[in-house]
Amino acid sequence: MSKPARRSGMRLGTSEYKQVAERMRAIQEQQRRLLMNMRRIQYKVVVLSSKGGVGKSFVTSNLAGALAVRARRVGVFDADVAGPSIHKMMGLPTGYGMTARMDGTVIPPEVPPGVKVASVGLLLPRDEVPLIWRGAIKTSAIRELLAYIDWGELDYLLIDMPPGTGDEQLTIAQLIPKITGIVLVTIPSEVSKSVVKKAASFAKKLNIPVIGIIENMAYFRCGDGRIHYIFGRGAAREIAEEYEIPFLGQIPVDERIRDANDRGKMFFLEYPDTEASRAFLEIADKVIDIVENGKAKVPGGDIDLEGGG
Ligand SMILES: Nc1ncnc2c1ncn2[C@@H]1O[C@H](COP(=O)(O)OP(=O)(O)OP(=O)(O)O)[C@@H](O)[C@H]1O
Ligand SMILES: [Mg+2]
Repeated sequence: MSKPARRSGMRLGTSEYKQVAERMRAIQEQQRRLLMNMRRIQYKVVVLSSKGGVGKSFVTSNLAGALAVRARRVGVFDADVAGPSIHKMMGLPTGYGMTARMDGTVIPPEVPPGVKVASVGLLLPRDEVPLIWRGAIKTSAIRELLAYIDWGELDYLLIDMPPGTGDEQLTIAQLIPKITGIVLVTIPSEVSKSVVKKAASFAKKLNIPVIGIIENMAYFRCGDGRIHYIFGRGAAREIAEEYEIPFLGQIPVDERIRDANDRGKMFFLEYPDTEASRAFLEIADKVIDIVENGKAKVPGGDIDLEGGG
């Protein structure tokens, strides 16, 4: 920017003006494409957790698999552009790539049982490459991806958010028009109480319905059949009832989940005959019922909505 312009903080030179105008046009074009793409998707579901590492990406990928088994056309978008991981849980290695067309649109790869996957991780050369992006760049990367990825016609697009329910998640959610609802993932500790409150606050701020809450790592079943509640018991269900948020189900702790994820396999397909995989099918049925019958509600007015970060 020229010196006088910087001092006054108002005027732009002709070339700077052109640059800004071009950037604005590019953003408008992206927004136009984004809206066009999103119109071809019937239900857009945001998967959120207030804490990191509770299994959100694992739940998103396997719920997507379960919805596909229930004959829904499903896509998964990894909105965690700074820490992409979901592609690996769906069986695609980092650097796998996405096919680009001459017109600049991108075709996301499809994995069994029929889920399309888009993640920045597919475009990185290696896992070790760090992506250190500031908030505004993250937002424009997500806008650009959503503008150019050609999902085709989908029933469900699941959006795996970065951990938290703060400003970053608000900004991302605001990029996506007409979100159908939020699925919350938590673990059964006392922490889950604040998770539900923050999520309720988040949903209310954006006027988005909450589809329900999934309790991951809910219990561990020993070889002799005994159940251990490693992270606590019942908090998520109690709170869900208190705030009238549907409880979608529980996923147990299972060593094979970590194993499948570490080996880059989709758990649901590697170990279909397990308690966890059966739970995903039941959860998918509940999600289908709530979403497709329009039962999801924006949280009520009597929740203390302070905070949310
Ligand atoms: N029910 C479970 N049983 C055993 N391991 C699990 C279970 N759920 C998730 N994991 C493991 O926990 C780790 C974290 O899971 P995941 O990456 O899905 O969490 P996340 O909430 O998406 O994390 P982040 O906040 O970093 O995005 C992974 O190694 C995953 O394999
Ligand atoms: Mg994740």
